Amino acid sequence: MPRSKSRRGVVSRPAGKRPAQTGRKKTPAKKTPAAVAPVVAGKKGLNVLFVGSECATYAKSGGLGDVVAALPKALRRMGHDARIVIPLYRTIDRQRHGIVFDRSACVHMGGGEEQWVGVYSAKLDGEVPVWFVDCERFFGRGGIYDEPSGEYPDNAFRFALLSKAALQVCKDTGFVPDVMHAHDWPTALVPVFLKTWDRILSPLSNSASVLTIHNIGYQGKYHASAFPYIGVGYEHFTPNKFEDFGGINLLKAGVAFADMLTTVSPTHRSEILTPDGGMGLAPYLNARSGDLVGILNGADYEHWNPETDSYIAARYSAGDLGGKAKCKAELQRRLGLAVDPKIPLFGIVSRFAHQKGFGLLMEALPRALNSMVMQVAVLGMGDQGTEHFFHWLTAANPGRVGSYIGFSVELSHVIEAGSDFFLMPSLYEPCGLNQMYSMKYGTLPIVRAVGGLEDSVRNYNEWDGSGTGFKFQQPSGAALYDTMGWAVSTWFDRPQHIQRLRASAMAENFSWEKAAREYLAVYEKAIANRKAG
Ligand code: ADP
Ligand code: GLC
Repeated sequence: MPRSKSRRGVVSRPAGKRPAQTGRKKTPAKKTPAAVAPVVAGKKGLNVLFVGSECATYAKSGGLGDVVAALPKALRRMGHDARIVIPLYRTIDRQRHGIVFDRSACVHMGGGEEQWVGVYSAKLDGEVPVWFVDCERFFGRGGIYDEPSGEYPDNAFRFALLSKAALQVCKDTGFVPDVMHAHDWPTALVPVFLKTWDRILSPLSNSASVLTIHNIGYQGKYHASAFPYIGVGYEHFTPNKFEDFGGINLLKAGVAFADMLTTVSPTHRSEILTPDGGMGLAPYLNARSGDLVGILNGADYEHWNPETDSYIAARYSAGDLGGKAKCKAELQRRLGLAVDPKIPLFGIVSRFAHQKGFGLLMEALPRALNSMVMQVAVLGMGDQGTEHFFHWLTAANPGRVGSYIGFSVELSHVIEAGSDFFLMPSLYEPCGLNQMYSMKYGTLPIVRAVGGLEDSVRNYNEWDGSGTGFKFQQPSGAALYDTMGWAVSTWFDRPQHIQRLRASAMAENFSWEKAAREYLAVYEKAIANRKAG
């Protein structure tokens, strides 16, 4: 299981020239307006502030960015005032996204440090207000968490500042959240600050917090020397809060302080309560199991839908799959594969991380390519060994394996639409969004039955052709190889079952609306816990 502290991130545009901005600003903050009224007349909607290190279309390294963008939109459509705070990374294109300067803010960190930041704003998808925290010292860089040479050494400082800035933005703008919703280790300090920061004087003294654990493999473990900058008292440097083998663990602190905890699928909720799945945090999560809820992510069908997708060669629907054949031919052309509709094509779009089961793929793919009629299309980046493996596999199998090592939202849609099968042999998978996107595109997922993959994919039943994909249990290359063989034999021997599986997969509906309703119940509990505590 990976223990790395961060994950590699990419922003929406390559690094460009950036006008001088922020750092320490002397501009006084604007006058605080009256608290924002609830959005639904007569019926109080909740004010919810999402604080994230990623948000799709602006900056994303994986599914966390998709969730931070989609869930607030679903909540707003249900009458709640959901907003978002993220960093203004240098590579976010302000002009393209209509991001404008709003105000300056002074963020108070430990040791009496006052960090002036710029606060910018825009509307995501024309609907969701987003505040961007601009701080050249911490966010004026090319990556989200790291760059090719490694993780940024000051990540604890960078994301502590973001978390504290989110509270300051609320205070300065008068937006008083009923709930602040934090995501993974980068913003796990939001619940901590809410409970330790001027509780009596703060306008946020009644705001509750929810921490969603998207990926427990990344906990934000740092040297204890970062603790003073966070600026909470040493009474919190204890093994049940911050302290972790002499260092600090930001996710662990969030688990201790948040009013409610969630993770991104019901099955993964059970997994993280076990010693293996909890990756060191199981005792602390078990102590709070009554406040821990598993909610399956949704898929944003406004961005992921073959009927409307502007990235793909032809649009198509379950009723008319003609366009899918064109998308397959286009993908084959793009990645240098033989253009042939009859050859089953397996897609991969992934962070190259141990979690995703690349060990299994390295064992199974060369064997499968030796013995099966098939093609592979790969998009991903990350672990260097995995990048080298795919360079080699591509060179060794001309016309049969095509790969692009990098990050491309456009190509990710092209692969979802053009593939016949989609490979996700994850060792663990808290939820997984790509299998949901695949199903919508009639691309059958081949998954290991863990976490959200177990909860979202129904296994193929050879008897009647029911199901939405192919599942296996064992974390072994042999199990993956056999399951790929099962898919290939179904493709050639039972094409009517492929059609039925496709129809069932495309009919699945992982709407965010359902998930949003479950989050609302969690928010109510968090508010009750906050009142009680
Ligand atoms: P995780 O969050 O663990 O990476 P998910 O399946 O939840 O896994 O989400 C992955 C998201 O990241 C999807 O939107 C997927 O398309 C996207 N993604 C992953 N790698 C790349 C890449 N190299 N280029 C473009 N998009 C990518
Ligand atoms: C994480 C998980 C993934 C999940 C995503 C969004 O990075 O690895 O399974 O879908 O977050 O919640």
